[in-house]
Formats: sequence, C-alpha cells, structure tokens
Amino acid sequence: MSVTPPLPLSPGESRVLRGLHEQHALGATLAGALPAGSVLFLEGELGAGKTSLTQGLVGAYGFTEPVTSPTYALMNVYPAPGGQVLHVDAYRVRDVQELFEMDLDELVRGSRVSVIEWGEGLYAEYPDAPILRLEHQPDPETRLVTRLR
Ligand SMILES: Nc1ncnc2c1ncn2[C@@H]1O[C@H](COP(=O)(O)OP(=O)(O)OP(=O)(O)O)[C@@H](O)[C@H]1O
Ligand SMILES: [Mg+2]
Repeated sequence: MSVTPPLPLSPGESRVLRGLHEQHALGATLAGALPAGSVLFLEGELGAGKTSLTQGLVGAYGFTEPVTSPTYALMNVYPAPGGQVLHVDAYRVRDVQELFEMDLDELVRGSRVSVIEWGEGLYAEYPDAPILRLEHQPDPETRLVTRLR
C-alpha cells in the first residue's frame, strides 16, 4: 500500500529555489505527491523555470529522453516507465476549445500527471489542480515558486 505524501507547498506559500538542481528536485517531489490523474498548472515569464520543473517531474517517473516545451505541437506525451505524463503548452492557444478538440480530457484521464504551462484559460475547467507561479529573482541563480491555488 502506498500513501501519497502531501504537496510540498500549501496554497499561498512561497519558496526560493537555489539553482537548477532545486528546480528539478521540486518537480521530482511533485511527481511523488500528486495523485494519479492530477493536473498541475505552471505559470511564469520566459525563462522562469517551467520546463526545468517539468523535466524534474518527468525524470522522477524514469523518463530519460529530452523534455522541451511543446510550443508548436501544443501537447507532448511522455511514456515514462512510472506513468505517462502529458505536457501542454497553451501559450499559443487562443481558445481552449482547440485543446479539447485534441482530446485534452481523455489524455488527462489517461495520464499519471498532466503539466499545463500557460493554462489560465483552463483553471476553471480543472478547479482542483494546483497552480504554481515561477518568478525570476535579483540573483540569476535562484527562482521563487509560489503556490497560488
Ligand atoms: N532554480 C533555478 N535556478 C537557476 N537557474 C534556473 C533555475 N530554474 C531554471 N533555471 C534555468 O533557467 C533557464 C530557463 O529555464 P526553463 O527553460 O525551465 O524556463 P521556462 O519557464 O520553461 O521558459 P520558457 O517560457 O521560455 O519556455 C534554464 O537555463 C534553466 O537552466
Ligand atoms: Mg519552457
């Protein structure tokens, strides 16, 4: 029997991530803490570390191939040994209906975790999904992560 540990951040809580290693480590911790079928929203400006966090999460499920933002494809599916991860980049999506026409719902249901970048238009569709905001800091070697929901 496995017990899912609580998420590492409570709503409203922030944490400083020192270096890429801690960005990956947060992703890996989330991989173990998110219940099966979860959606995780990531927001933050260019270079804030959204893809790095996703790499840590997908890597924790044993996926060893490169993970990049699916900016043009909109969605990537990573068939990790520990569970399929869906990675959505909604930056170029004008109407979220576009994503539902690409079977977003079915893909979410069939995935261990779905990470959605730039997914503001979907926050109401997945009201239980945590939202993490990533921000640059004055020190270029750190990022701030805040759980908004
Ligand atoms: N906590 C951190 N500390 C220092 N550097 C970091 C941290 N997290 C990520 N980086 C670095 O910041 C750069 C941008 O990270 P990443 O590509 O993950 O950002 P992103 O939010 O996905 O950006 P984009 O919106 O352009 O896709 C990378 O070079 C990465 O190594
Ligand atoms: Mg990215």
